[in-house]
Amino acid sequence: SAPEGDRLRIAVQKSGRLSAPSLELLTAVGLGFAPAGDRLFCAGENAPVDLLRVRDDDIPGLVADGGCDLGIVGADVLGEFAAGAGVRPPSLLRELGFGRCRLAIALPQGLNWSGPASLAGLRIATSHPRHLAAWLRANAVAAEIVTLSGAVEIAPRLGRADAVCDLVSSGATLAANALREVATVATSQAVLVGRAGGLDAARAAIAGPLLQRLDAVLGVRG
Ligand code: PRP
Ligand code: ZN
Ligand code: MG
Repeated sequence: SAPEGDRLRIAVQKSGRLSAPSLELLTAVGLGFAPAGDRLFCAGENAPVDLLRVRDDDIPGLVADGGCDLGIVGADVLGEFAAGAGVRPPSLLRELGFGRCRLAIALPQGLNWSGPASLAGLRIATSHPRHLAAWLRANAVAAEIVTLSGAVEIAPRLGRADAVCDLVSSGATLAANALREVATVATSQAVLVGRAGGLDAARAAIAGPLLQRLDAVLGVRG
């Protein structure tokens, strides 16, 4: 077992679609945490495991640089990070089966769609510029990518973009902003990520049984 002081750090989304199901999954594998409230750091109550509650977009970087050992994040956020230059991205350890969504192109009323070529010359707002660039390239379309870190759906109304490329789950956000989904760029779900180089022996000793219980839980969930 792990020496005193060696603790495993797991990064989860602080507030968003993945927050509640991430905590439910960690509870299902037997980890107990005091109610989080507004705290960004939660010490495990029954295991040497700590929770860091952060912005989902920061999770791949935190795991890549060793600030956290494991993380639960959307495959879309991981892919966007991995497509960037420089740092070695975290390893994808498990697909978790929740947080399913798609990265989609959506248009405001008044823009016609007859395929990707309809986007030629338009400005497309997104927080996934690398996914979008790859999709535009694959479809041989030249468009301008407007990178925003959030509230992408509001960009056409603000005149900052003609179209958007954003995550769609229920579709409620698109509907609320009078946007029409026209094409899928990528599909996503929550994934467990870990340090690319693997964990040191002490942390591997903590993570091993957790991953075994996780596999049992995921198996039950089918
Ligand atoms: C995504 C996306 C939309 C919303 C769509 O945000 O950016 O805002 O979910 O979901 P809906 O189709 O069910 O309305 P996310 O939860 O990933 O949060 P973030 O943009 O703050 O990372
Ligand atoms: Zn995000
Ligand atoms: Mg959002």
